[in-house]
Amino acid sequence: MTNRTEMVESAVAAYRKLLEEQLVRCDNMATAPAAKDFTKQEKIRVGIIDGDGIGPIIVAEAKRVLETLLADKIADGKIELVPIAGLTLENRMAKGQALPTEVLDKIKTVDVLLKGPTTTPKGGTLESANVAMRRELDLYANVRPVSVPELGIDWIFYRENTEGEYVLGSRGIEVGNDLTMDFKVTTDLGTRRIAKAAFEYAKNNGKTNVAIVTKANIMKKTDGAFSRIAHEVAAGYPDITAEDWYVDITAANLVNPDIRSKFQVFLLPNLYGDIITDEAAQIQGGVGTAGSANVGDSYAMFEAIHGSAPRMIEEGIGDYANPESIFRAVEMLLRHIALPAYADKLNAALSACEAEKKVVVTGNRDGATAKEFTDYLLSKF
Ligand code: IPM
Ligand code: MG
Repeated sequence: MTNRTEMVESAVAAYRKLLEEQLVRCDNMATAPAAKDFTKQEKIRVGIIDGDGIGPIIVAEAKRVLETLLADKIADGKIELVPIAGLTLENRMAKGQALPTEVLDKIKTVDVLLKGPTTTPKGGTLESANVAMRRELDLYANVRPVSVPELGIDWIFYRENTEGEYVLGSRGIEVGNDLTMDFKVTTDLGTRRIAKAAFEYAKNNGKTNVAIVTKANIMKKTDGAFSRIAHEVAAGYPDITAEDWYVDITAANLVNPDIRSKFQVFLLPNLYGDIITDEAAQIQGGVGTAGSANVGDSYAMFEAIHGSAPRMIEEGIGDYANPESIFRAVEMLLRHIALPAYADKLNAALSACEAEKKVVVTGNRDGATAKEFTDYLLSKF
């Protein structure tokens, strides 16, 4: 056999394995249990993960908010806050696991998670803890709200969180030195469930329009399927308009004042969702201001959209980190576990603090600490 034939054969063998694995994933989705109904659950266990860098600082304040808001429910045993240790960079490096087994086992004993940011080292082989958690817990919906009332912006993004460009992102194929290929995966059930989540949200929240964002003119198979399946799901929601948008013009329209306020709900494959939600968060005031929910049928994880800010720790100003984004995540967590009145209370307190601006966090020594801001927030409850 020539060298070239051998290279092709070995690439084909690797590809065959990927196809087989993805078909198993399809089978697993078909038999996955139905979503939890928190209104029917006696007790809800909320796991709390500190994370790295500024994580422990802002998570401590988020925990204080939860303890204050939910004091009655914690006292009568309806809610339990469960600290989960070990999702630190040191432990992940030592174990060589993005999500160490003992941490994952503990995570599986709770219903929902509040998670501080985790650091992903550049290079090396350690996978992002977030990506691993999304995969292991099948957190297929990444939900990111962005609101700028003065600009008429009230958006919510439903980003597919488990497939697309991400699922085989570390499993691409090299054929000699001349050729590299990555793979993008769209499955029928994987698309149907995220589309359903977006349309259900629209229906339950009085929204009338869902923008389906793809590049189906170019990615004909994967994005073509995503758009087709989204429209099939949309057919079950006759009061909601489903519109196709290409991702490039969507990016442009988010900064077009004549068009952007017409968008309501966005439904996007993984990578487009990653990019477009950062753009949207920036319009709201920066990626530090948005909360992010990673939701599956059995588990859900809520986090700040920003990273662990190791530089703030190095400079000794970690205590001045802004906890707003994680508080937004707490608000989403409360809605998810069917406690909307508690979420509204937190939302009202946050809005009051933002309007009054008596205590302001700047991320530096000239501003308040996360703890001082939280004291102020708690005084509004
Ligand atoms: C996000 C982040 C992650 C992603 C990184 C940290 C892996 O950018 O949550 O949007 O790409 O999904
Ligand atoms: Mg991102």
